[in-house]
Amino acid sequence: MYICICHGVTDKTIEQKIESGFVTMRSLSKELGVGTQCGKCTNCTKKILNQKLIEIVDVTEQVA
Ligand code: FES
Repeated sequence: MYICICHGVTDKTIEQKIESGFVTMRSLSKELGVGTQCGKCTNCTKKILNQKLIEIVDVTEQVA
């Protein structure tokens, strides 16, 4: 699903970037352009970021 229409960024692309180390809104904006034009995708991107970080922490705790 497209999250950022202005830059043609999907939820999958955002998730892949988070997994590869772009774990802040600022770094995602710099890398993908999300939130840098109309800004309508900012809240949705933050939700994806927060959800993904929770998943990463859960997996890390299970491994430890
Ligand atoms: S929809 Fe992402 S900046 Fe416009």
